[in-house]
Amino acid sequence: MYTTAFLDIPPLLYAGGTVRLPGSKSISNRVLLLAGLSEGTTVVHDLLASDDTRVMLDALRDLGCDIQQNGDTVHITGLAGKLSVLHAKLFLGNAGTAMRPLTAALALMSATQGGVFELSGVPRMHERPIGDLVEALRPLGCHIECTANEGYPPLRLSGGQLKLSEPIKVRGDVSSQFLTALLLALPLVSQAHDLTIEVVGELISKPYIEITLNLLARFGIQVERQGWASFTIPQGSHYQSPGEIHVEADASSASYFIAAGAIAGMAQPVRIEGVGADSIQGDIRFVEAAQAMGALVSSGPNWLEVRRGQWPLKAVEMDCNHIPDAAMTLAVMALYAQGTTKLNNIASWRVKETDRIAAMACELRKLGATVVEGQDFIEITPPEVGHWQHASIHTYDDHRMAMCFSLAAFNPLSQTATPNQPISVRIDDPRCVGKTFPDYFESLFQVSQTNANLIPVITVDGPSASGKGTLASALATRLGYQFLDSGSLYRITGLLACEKGIDLDDAPALEALARQVGTTIALRFDHEHVWVGGRDVSDDLRLEASGQAASRISSFPGVRQALVDLQKAFRGLPGLVADGRDMGTVIFPDAALKVFLTATVAERAERRYNQLISKGFSANLEEICADLEARDTRDRTRAVSPLVAAADARKLDNSALTIEQSVETVLGWWVDGWPHVIVRS
Ligand code: DC
Repeated sequence: MYTTAFLDIPPLLYAGGTVRLPGSKSISNRVLLLAGLSEGTTVVHDLLASDDTRVMLDALRDLGCDIQQNGDTVHITGLAGKLSVLHAKLFLGNAGTAMRPLTAALALMSATQGGVFELSGVPRMHERPIGDLVEALRPLGCHIECTANEGYPPLRLSGGQLKLSEPIKVRGDVSSQFLTALLLALPLVSQAHDLTIEVVGELISKPYIEITLNLLARFGIQVERQGWASFTIPQGSHYQSPGEIHVEADASSASYFIAAGAIAGMAQPVRIEGVGADSIQGDIRFVEAAQAMGALVSSGPNWLEVRRGQWPLKAVEMDCNHIPDAAMTLAVMALYAQGTTKLNNIASWRVKETDRIAAMACELRKLGATVVEGQDFIEITPPEVGHWQHASIHTYDDHRMAMCFSLAAFNPLSQTATPNQPISVRIDDPRCVGKTFPDYFESLFQVSQTNANLIPVITVDGPSASGKGTLASALATRLGYQFLDSGSLYRITGLLACEKGIDLDDAPALEALARQVGTTIALRFDHEHVWVGGRDVSDDLRLEASGQAASRISSFPGVRQALVDLQKAFRGLPGLVADGRDMGTVIFPDAALKVFLTATVAERAERRYNQLISKGFSANLEEICADLEARDTRDRTRAVSPLVAAADARKLDNSALTIEQSVETVLGWWVDGWPHVIVRS
């Protein structure tokens, strides 16, 4: 997850490849409960890993279900409707999707089979009402005590005497979760009678009830529905495990990748795994809307493949009442359409995480679009030719705003883009996607491609122990960029040369070795650690001997040349910070910002000394000083790629600066320079 203050997305040119979406929370917990009540073992695939699903799994385990977890696949052997544990205290965190259906299921089971169950959660859970559900269950003969405040958890469920002759009444206008809880639980006691639930008041959130009914059907229970006013569970219904079940991904999350395929899926489609055309979620109908705009969609169980069809996209006028969340994605797709797109019947946007109509209008205008907003509609005309503008997109703490506007990064593909002047899109507060899709941007970058020259690079060059590695890695963290410590590649080559007994003057042998680094010899970089061929060499690389070997071998042109492609390959989305000696001069001469870092020899020697001592190595300050000077001279005077500041580098002497001050200084340069001019060659 990107936790940076902002995320700059460079211009993107293609989309393709596979993305796996995280499982939907509502479906995950319903499936877990149904599997826990069923007869037989259910293999649940793609379960969402979250606090709410964890407490449900713990509760089912406490109730005697056998649960084997292997990554996001879980094997659950259910209770077949029979209690095997008669006393349990269940802690359900803040998971309404666990508290409500477990209350209904355990109240009914304890009334028929005995047993005492206490259900509690975090303090916030004890403020979330459950009275309407309790009021529906008590008249059936369930003993339910609200042990702190009437109408709120914690609850104590202790037996009772079921009488099921009367219709069961539940309010539908407060939360559809109470009806869901009853629907999920009542098949437990449907042996003798048809059971009818009557909804009191207008039922809200009908698509969620559809999900419940659908999942019940997959577990063998066919609920009969009379409109949305009453629901009947036929006599003799019992849960039957479907064997295997996939938890669908959130269909609204799929919309961004469907759009990416429609806009940029040219060479190959975008394949979305986790949700298919047979989805039980209302927002899957976004597929039809995307098709109306030109997307080519094929699908199967649990997957969709989307590629570009008509281009530019077709402008549409559409009633979006049935897909309110996913329709936001259409508003951004409209930037790539010919003509004006109008989305109608979207009044609910005004009362979501933010006033989404106003927010969408404001941010689309920043990009250069013409937008008309009404109380319940929005009308979008793409920017005129040459009028796309760099935009810093405010996201209003609304995950969907952040995800939608990332799609504006495909602007070079627009018919109205300025040739050779693509724009970059800045997304403020990217962490807001954590609400439903923490790794959204990682997934987007995984299925997006662009030309390397469009990916911004910041270079930090300077002499040994100038602190460039620390500065560069801090910048990479603050910007969410990739990081290249090019010195480590020379150190790795030097270390391997020493280990293999290669003479450090044997240029051809060293060059041959350097060509293997990163190709036949696998490298892996992970935070502070470096693995070479599966071995963690992080400590070995820090040794002075490795630094000296690196300095010596780096003067051979063949060695340097052998490592060029490997270094360039680090230029990945969304950007790169690279440190070394020749990053700005040789490897990335087109870098958007070049920093040349210096500090006095005395200051650098002291830093290196302290670093070594703190790591438990012995060190001598004078020797370090002499060694640094010798290395500086060698790096500066070598024939190829000598250590010099690039003509367009900004110099920073950090002798008297803390690391934080250096980082802030360079970040300031970066922010002031935005938008960095990107010329598409
Ligand atoms: O940055 P460092 O101390 O880890 O680098 C080790 C040696 O590698 C350094 O003495 C010079 C060489 N080097 C280089 O020649 N070019 C680079 N881009 C990075 C390092």
